Amino acid sequence: MSSPHASKIQSIAPNTQPSTKRDHDPSWTLSSWRNRPSVQQPVYPDAASLARTLGEISALPPLVTSYEVEALKSALAEAARGERFILWGGDCAENFADCTSAAIASRLKILLQMSLVLVHGTRKRIIRIGRFAGQYAKPRSTMTETRDGVELPCFRGDNVNRPEFTSDARTPDPSLLLRGYERSALTLNFVRALVDGGFADLHHPENWDLDFVKHSPLAAEYQHMVDSIGESLRFMETLAGSSILAMQRVDFYTSHELLVLEYEAALTRQVPRREGWFNLSTHLPWVGLRTSDPDGAHIEFCRGISNPVGVKVGPDTSAEALLRTIRALNPTDEAGRVVLVTRFGAHQIGRGLPPLLRAVRDAQVAVVWVCDPMHGNTEAVVPTTGAWAGKSVKTRKFAHILAEVEQAFEIHRNEGTVLAGVHIELTGEDVTECTGGARGLTDDDLSRAYRSSVDPRLNYEQALELAMLIARRAGAHA
Ligand code: PEP
Ligand code: CO
Repeated sequence: MSSPHASKIQSIAPNTQPSTKRDHDPSWTLSSWRNRPSVQQPVYPDAASLARTLGEISALPPLVTSYEVEALKSALAEAARGERFILWGGDCAENFADCTSAAIASRLKILLQMSLVLVHGTRKRIIRIGRFAGQYAKPRSTMTETRDGVELPCFRGDNVNRPEFTSDARTPDPSLLLRGYERSALTLNFVRALVDGGFADLHHPENWDLDFVKHSPLAAEYQHMVDSIGESLRFMETLAGSSILAMQRVDFYTSHELLVLEYEAALTRQVPRREGWFNLSTHLPWVGLRTSDPDGAHIEFCRGISNPVGVKVGPDTSAEALLRTIRALNPTDEAGRVVLVTRFGAHQIGRGLPPLLRAVRDAQVAVVWVCDPMHGNTEAVVPTTGAWAGKSVKTRKFAHILAEVEQAFEIHRNEGTVLAGVHIELTGEDVTECTGGARGLTDDDLSRAYRSSVDPRLNYEQALELAMLIARRAGAHA
């Protein structure tokens, strides 16, 4: 995105320092992951049809460019030094049916509003990364699901199979990989067009208002920040004697969990005048907790790509395994290359995070630390009244989510390390999936507008409130 010939998704010039040359390791090839144990891979019964689809995908243009990927890596290196803050968010899983203009625009709106609040509070440039344009595949705890004595493959996301409980629907269908590629391209195309067309212009934050904002208990505080940023902008423009064009567009990057390796390999390419391989299905792929074995296929695959790579880190991650993963992914110790996304849960972060921070600090390896306060805080509740009375529902408490972020700031400060950002599951819609927040949603409210087919997301108000509280906290720690 830094080149005038590259896509115009961002206009604020990124740090254009050349990235450290990645030594090519001859033991890595685009298929070396096949020799490692792989988990969470769909089993396609029709090998010929899979090969045909993958052939088709590999001949299609990439979704992102190597310029963009490198610009993000430099920005992440700055975040690791505390110069920027990462706002990484979106749905747990995207659905093909939600590839609509309304859903895409509301997700951008909430991310833009949150980033505005964070700019105001942290006084840092924000790196906006969406869990979108490819977040279709989901890891599952079991390979199969049994209902009334019938066992079928689990539903693994819209680009793998279909959710209905029939043998046909649950059989992994390679053509869905192509549909997923196309949906990603459609999403990205609309995001780029909106950003190019001035949707993200800081002079016009009213573009990002969601209908229900007016009724939010946070409306006044948010409006105050918008006004104060508007005033500063006008002041700067009066001084400069012209409009600050750089404020008319902001950068957005995409990310998804790197899960279906056949798909990722089909979009991993070499590009002219650049060394190495780039996974051009997304800017920032991440490896989930269930696939993060340092000797497994997913880490092997990521070892050979030049993208920044996220790795989830949880209560069962040992310091030894983590260091092995970091060294495998980043033998040249390139800044911005490895992003560690910690997800312990509010009750475990205090015990689990400090030893890992110390091990990584003592090993003197470059990493970017991000807090995911969602995945360690999932719990099942049983509402007592309402449509879901007596049924078990997956939710997350706002107070736990906030407590994990607050502890993360505190622990990093105590260890002398940098918390570079947050990774959040949210939606721009008015759902009721997580409890608590300014409106005090209760377990009994969950049945009202619970739409997630996977993990519970913060709704628009809860996401904005979290951003305000993080901004306060980050500002205090700046
Ligand atoms: C996710 O980010 O949706 C996810 C499944 O996370 P984790 O791998 O941390 O459980
Ligand atoms: Co999730």
